[in-house]
Amino acid sequence: MRVFVISGAGISAESGIPTFRGQNGYWRNLDPAKLATTEAFQRDPKLVWAWYRERRQRIRAAQPNAAHKALVDLAEHARAFLLVTQNVDDLHARAGLPPEKMVQIHGDIFETRCSRCNWRAEHDYEHEHETIPACPKCGALMRPGVVWFGEMLDSRKIDIVENYLGAGACDLVLVIGTTALFGYISDWAGRAQGGRGRLIEINPEETALSRFATERIREPAAVALPNLVQNLHCRGRC
Ligand code: OAD
Ligand code: ZN
Repeated sequence: MRVFVISGAGISAESGIPTFRGQNGYWRNLDPAKLATTEAFQRDPKLVWAWYRERRQRIRAAQPNAAHKALVDLAEHARAFLLVTQNVDDLHARAGLPPEKMVQIHGDIFETRCSRCNWRAEHDYEHEHETIPACPKCGALMRPGVVWFGEMLDSRKIDIVENYLGAGACDLVLVIGTTALFGYISDWAGRAQGGRGRLIEINPEETALSRFATERIREPAAVALPNLVQNLHCRGRC
């Protein structure tokens, strides 16, 4: 079976990571949509770094949940599998999903890179002692290696997704824990399904993508996904 999966913040909710638009998404009464921007960073880099540091600490303390693990199981048994995650946390990776089967389309919160030149720190670069780390190469401010609102996606990551979709329609498309507000997310989901596959949405709430789904499971991902994968195994459909 060819499988294509899209995940959003909802898949990490049961690991204790707040979603962006859920009721506990705000931080110090600030809207994440207003913090994850180049304008916010230029205006107050100290505040933006404080937000990302706190998120890094929360993610480090969190564990992958049953939904992350069920996807690893599915990836092991599927003939072809690609996950596009909008999440910048490392819970899919820590659950055991191989890097070649996953694209972090909005970047990696643990990456630190220069806001001006191409210098990138190795993963988990510890600069906690500096409130705002400076680039050792050019002296400009360093920033988290994530995509901010209005920024372009990494074209190499887009190519990975486009190549996978170009190799043929998928038998199973899963869209898990996302409001699917970005056009490219619903576009990729629709093209992967290709008018013939199953497009299953796993989300307790209705979303922009719900009307295109062939099935909608209105349950939390950590409940729904293990059941779904178990079901696929039982019917030899993986
Ligand atoms: P959102 O916060 O927009 O949506 C989270 C979704 O998860 C909602 O539809 C919830 O109903 C659902 N949800 C909550 N708990 C769940 C659970 N236990 N199981 C399954 N679903 C659950 O987060 P995203 O859709 O991921 O982009 O947001 C997409 C992007 O918008 C983010 O990557 C970020 C944000 O701006 C950038 O930072 C560029
Ligand atoms: Zn630099």
